[in-house]
Amino acid sequence: MNHIIEEDLKELNHNLSDLSDKIEGKKFLVTGGAGFLGSWFCDVLDSFGADITCVDNISSGSKRNVEHLMGKDNFHFINSGLLEFESDEKFDYIVHMASIATPPLYMKYPIETLDININGTRKLLEKARADNVKGFLFMSTSEVYGNPPDDQIPTKETFHGVVNSFGPRCMYDEGKRAAEAYCYSYYHTHKTPIRITRTFNVYGPRLDVEGTSHYGRALIKFVYQAIHGTPITIYGDGKQTRSFCYVTDQIEGLFRLLLTPGIDGEVFNVGNNREITILELAETIVKITKSKSTISLESQPNYNLKDDPRRRCPDTSKANRMFGYSPRVDLETGLKRVAECMRKNEAI
Ligand SMILES: NC(=O)c1ccc[n+]([C@@H]2O[C@H](COP(=O)([O-])OP(=O)(O)OC[C@H]3O[C@@H](n4cnc5c(N)ncnc54)[C@H](O)[C@@H]3O)[C@@H](O)[C@H]2O)c1
Repeated sequence: MNHIIEEDLKELNHNLSDLSDKIEGKKFLVTGGAGFLGSWFCDVLDSFGADITCVDNISSGSKRNVEHLMGKDNFHFINSGLLEFESDEKFDYIVHMASIATPPLYMKYPIETLDININGTRKLLEKARADNVKGFLFMSTSEVYGNPPDDQIPTKETFHGVVNSFGPRCMYDEGKRAAEAYCYSYYHTHKTPIRITRTFNVYGPRLDVEGTSHYGRALIKFVYQAIHGTPITIYGDGKQTRSFCYVTDQIEGLFRLLLTPGIDGEVFNVGNNREITILELAETIVKITKSKSTISLESQPNYNLKDDPRRRCPDTSKANRMFGYSPRVDLETGLKRVAECMRKNEAI
């Protein structure tokens, strides 16, 4: 494991120490645990002595992300698609992260994307009900808001979204929306203790660079291009905005969301509320990496840009009020950490 991830995990362990007794010795099922966010989540669970079952079919994640956990008594890796996975084990918590998660991949595998979010979530909610779990966390997304008008930026959880149910992003956006509806319905029908995060763009070490999943994730692609001195390619006019959250802030938010008492049946934005244009992001990356890369606008991306949201920025006041969520890492600091990891070519 490289020193940046080690330092970040140490910091996360310190910042979450008040929750340690809720994690130690508990049984967690984490789907998508070999992915970017899932592997960070598993590392924190491991640092507090949880028993972890990680189900992942390694379609976009990587075994490298969890290699250091393999062989530990408290870590059980199951290489399986979620829809084929069965277990008699009784879990205390279920964390559902498995999904096809980037535009090029979900556009290429639309039916699988719908299946993992809709049928996969239903299956896990049944398991949660049978096991009488203490908590069920569903990874939803800011994409459920679709393309909000300017007066809905920053976006609150009460905004219902402007989403196209019949377009190139529908499989992801509507898959997540249907999964949220399942969570809502299990909570109101069976009192299943669901909690939903609508996560905005997250970045950090392990966001796959060489593999498939980075395509369509602008930030990590820009850092890669900047470091290699190749032109930074922006799809569209560069005026579209996003808000980027460093991975440790996201993971801390997810643990607090899952383990804070009294917030079952609720949905929360988790992200960083600094809104930045994609052009400004590219310029910041060039500056931070002292790169000679030029920045070019491309009209022909490798995936369909129709319905690409113009602006993205979370209102995180609900998460702040209900579980003290407040991101700690500013964009420049986070970018420096990612660039350093990438320079050393030590993704793990
Ligand atoms: N990273 C972000 O910025 C972001 C933003 C919003 C929401 N999310 C959500 O967070 C979750 C994790 O995203 P990530 O960025 O870590 O992506 P990721 O691609 O790194 O991780 C997803 C994991 O799910 C696994 N998976 C996919 N289909 C599966 C299946 N049928 N059965 C078992 N495993 C399967 C993949 O192999 C991968 O390891 C996803 O649900 C995603 O939609 C992520």
